[in-house]
Amino acid sequence: MPKTIKKKYINFILNGVNYEEEVDDRMLLSDFIRINLGMTGTNIGCEHGICGSCTIHINGRAVRSCLSLAVEIDNCKISTIEGISKKNQNLSIIQKNFKQYFALQCGFCTPGIIMTLSDYLYRNKNASEKQIKDVISGHLCRCTGYSSIIKAAVQSAKEINNNV
Ligand code: FES
Ligand code: FES
Repeated sequence: MPKTIKKKYINFILNGVNYEEEVDDRMLLSDFIRINLGMTGTNIGCEHGICGSCTIHINGRAVRSCLSLAVEIDNCKISTIEGISKKNQNLSIIQKNFKQYFALQCGFCTPGIIMTLSDYLYRNKNASEKQIKDVISGHLCRCTGYSSIIKAAVQSAKEINNNV
């Protein structure tokens, strides 16, 4: 017998804007963000928590949105790559360095990596290159070979530490 889909109203703040949305109780958060909210900067690769391309922030912490249900963000504050730059206008420090160091090619993995770094580098002000490599190792990139991503991340850590 097919399972009944239940609907639920959820309230949340996305990139600084209040929302109230009706959602199917079994809908994945990654699908909800892309399909219902139109935030297509959050990419979906594996849908199994492996590639990291769907990473967003929930209450300031990096989370793989393909491993959560949309109903779980009720009363939460969430951010996607669309909300990571200052007032959606200037590139953030990390975005600027990704551009500067050519740390992307197709760009599929990039939003997820930037969301992870945007959480980690601000919570770990003296992160070493090794720690940064460990954090990035949770993301799959098919194009860059990682070297330019690591350079961009290390430079970003320096600038964040110096409050540039
Ligand atoms: Fe979520 Fe790959 S799509 S980790
Ligand atoms: Fe293409 Fe990373 S830049 S997957």
